[in-house]
Amino acid sequence: MASDRFRLASYPTPRLRHAASSTTAAHTMAPRKILLLGATGPAGIATLERLLSIPSITVIVYARTPSRIPAHLRSHPQLTLLPPGTLSDTTSLRAAVAQKPDVIISLLGPAQHDFLHWANPFSTETKQPVFADAYRVIVDAMKEYEVKRIYVMGTVSISDQKDKSSLASAAMVWAVWSVIHTAWKNVVAIGAVFDEIPKEAGIEWTVFRLGNVTDGELQTPAVAGYVGDGKTTSRVRRSELADWLVKQATSEVHEWVGEKPVVSSAAK
Ligand SMILES: NC(=O)c1ccc[n+]([C@@H]2O[C@H](COP(=O)([O-])OP(=O)(O)OC[C@H]3O[C@@H](n4cnc5c(N)ncnc54)[C@H](OP(=O)(O)O)[C@@H]3O)[C@@H](O)[C@H]2O)c1
Repeated sequence: MASDRFRLASYPTPRLRHAASSTTAAHTMAPRKILLLGATGPAGIATLERLLSIPSITVIVYARTPSRIPAHLRSHPQLTLLPPGTLSDTTSLRAAVAQKPDVIISLLGPAQHDFLHWANPFSTETKQPVFADAYRVIVDAMKEYEVKRIYVMGTVSISDQKDKSSLASAAMVWAVWSVIHTAWKNVVAIGAVFDEIPKEAGIEWTVFRLGNVTDGELQTPAVAGYVGDGKTTSRVRRSELADWLVKQATSEVHEWVGEKPVVSSAAK
């Protein structure tokens, strides 16, 4: 769990009307190298675009299908695309961490375009804990290469002791559990990997949990909290998520260390 020091030294509240340009302040910060996983999905692309808009940031991407990233981003001078590879290619995965990024951001998860695959109860492939296995390799490599900070995609299917009861959240988890059960299992397994990391390992992890992920322009910054706290909702726009991730990853203050906040659109 995060110490009080982390929680009290919270990130400055962004000015709402200028939310879209709130990364401007980060232009003056120290150079930062970020390893982005899951960069090829819509939220990953939104995050990549936002990171690359900050001149002092360089981004490394390891992906199985980098061709899904728009060409104008692929050729960006601040981006290094590693040779394509899968999550089971542990040598390449470790080599990505060996680049010694300051921060790892991962948007890896059951992909929307693979929905039918995940919904197929006869698929043996989706029964493998592909993300949890990859995170074990990543965390091990983080210890070896002294990479401290990682933000990991999770969903509200991962429960947290700070959550309160919420009908909307329970209904969403039930729907995922029944329709794409192996996806539910895979995501829950991600939470377990990070729960098992002892504090002494010095890994500063944050599992950011999502509800329904939607498109739409950034209007109001995302909020972070817990299920049923009256502040969070059951959905987040990809633009809000990208904005939240970039602010967290570029902040000198490490909020939410060892925690699993829900990141969502703000409650009205
Ligand atoms: N859509 C929702 O309502 C919803 C709800 C809760 C959580 N989420 C999660 O939120 C994140 C962003 O969602 P999104 O819809 O913007 O993007 P997305 O298409 O779901 O992104 C998934 C990312 O994970 C990668 N990935 C998945 N399985 C992989 C594997 N076996 N090996 C290597 N890479 C793999 C995909 O790579 P490829 O491009 O190569 O497939 C892609 O980059 C995802 O993690 C998603 O699971 C989505």
